[in-house]
Amino acid sequence: MRLTIAIDGPAAAGKGTLSRALAEAFGLAHLDTGLIYRATGRRTLDGTPPLEAAQTLSAADLEADDLRTPDVARAASVVAALPEVRAALVDFQRAFARRSGGAVLDGRDIGTVICPEAEVKFFVTASDQVRAERRFAELRDSGHEVTLDGVLKDLRERDARDSARAAAPMMPAEDAVVLDTSGLAIDAVVAEAIRLVTEKTGCQ
Ligand code: DC
Repeated sequence: MRLTIAIDGPAAAGKGTLSRALAEAFGLAHLDTGLIYRATGRRTLDGTPPLEAAQTLSAADLEADDLRTPDVARAASVVAALPEVRAALVDFQRAFARRSGGAVLDGRDIGTVICPEAEVKFFVTASDQVRAERRFAELRDSGHEVTLDGVLKDLRERDARDSARAAAPMMPAEDAVVLDTSGLAIDAVVAEAIRLVTEKTGCQ
């Protein structure tokens, strides 16, 4: 069977780590769809209009080395609210999801819009405080000048924009399993998710 796993949730909830672990465990390809929006947002910071940035996105844009900065995260969230930008990026994501070997995609609208037919869907979340602490540590360790309060404010602003927009807002699909990672070590979250995938699909 071709397995598609959809993983959604707010920033710094643990989606990336969980997606990579599930891709590895089940031998699936992985697409971080946030990177596509970050690369699009990154190009708008250079003055490219948002729709043109999305329509002409190249593999090299996805490999730019400054996609993880707070400014690019904010620009990504802003362009992601534009329906025409989202529409321009749908085909690439769906084609990836249909790869013959199966795939894990993570983002905000994977279970609801991109892959509503995914066999397994997770909505990964954690408290604002826990997510801000995680993102603060990541940014600080990679040399960014940030404060915990600033990171918390940015996360809240971005989550509010991502969930309030009319086009494909961030929300759990009706059939998503919600995983709250606030009080759990990531290993425990991964183990629980692997157990659920095996239980739902019979895949080992
Ligand atoms: O997952 P991330 O933090 O790298 O995503 C950056 C922004 O991109 C996020 O604030 C909202 C947007 N995004 C989206 O709207 N839909 C997706 N499937 C993935 C990301």
